[in-house]
Amino acid sequence: MELLRLEDVSYSYQTKYQTIEAVKHVSCSFEQARMYAVVGESGSGKSTLLSLMAGLDLPVSGDILVEGKSLKTLSRDRYRRDIASVVYQSFHLFPLLTAQENVMFPMEMKGIRSGEAAERACRMLTRVGLPDKIRKQFPKMMSGGEQQRVAIARALAAEGKILLADEPTGNLDSENEAHIVKILKELAHQEGYLVIVITHNPEVAKAADHVLQMKDGRLVTGR
Ligand SMILES: Nc1ncnc2c1ncn2[C@@H]1O[C@H](COP(=O)(O)OP(=O)(O)O)[C@@H](O)[C@H]1O
Ligand SMILES: [Mg+2]
Repeated sequence: MELLRLEDVSYSYQTKYQTIEAVKHVSCSFEQARMYAVVGESGSGKSTLLSLMAGLDLPVSGDILVEGKSLKTLSRDRYRRDIASVVYQSFHLFPLLTAQENVMFPMEMKGIRSGEAAERACRMLTRVGLPDKIRKQFPKMMSGGEQQRVAIARALAAEGKILLADEPTGNLDSENEAHIVKILKELAHQEGYLVIVITHNPEVAKAADHVLQMKDGRLVTGR
């Protein structure tokens, strides 16, 4: 079933000296329970596209539809809180919170009481393959692979439908990369998430059901 649709989406950055057209007339649609990879050279507009799909920015022209409803009319705060979560290359965990507290954070934002949030956080951390001892650790005491798994657990805690990842394995060795790819794939195929991963890595792209290629702000078709 179609979950997300981009209709003729364009976005440009306005700097002091110029207008940079980062995304140009992109149209595509994404189904739930599928994993998509977005590939393309540096500067081709991948991260900009992801931030539009995450509701962090609005297209300059064109529209993004979630279950048929325009992001212009939906509350983007609610979209980001309840539907779409983002995972980044550099993890972006809160340094002063433990693994468990990091995962509890989005649930507390939603008003879930802390006992339940704590219990759910532990479940999510187990879900991404982390041992119990990680719960009380701070990010700086964890490896990159562990931090990325905590970041994925935190994204899952939002219990949304869309998981967006910008180079999620960019800072990881190949063993951790394989683990993250496996988790993302399972989230799509077993738990019904729409997973969209930006990647430079052919191994990650190979794991996806569909590959979309960006070139100079445009989408040039893939498989
Ligand atoms: N905040 C910004 N201000 C101005 N230009 C930007 C900004 N972010 C990205 N760009 C430009 O937009 C284009 C697309 O960038 P980006 O979406 O980051 O590409 P990618 O993720 O594929 O490397 C590039 O030309 C980049 O320099
Ligand atoms: Mg990028």
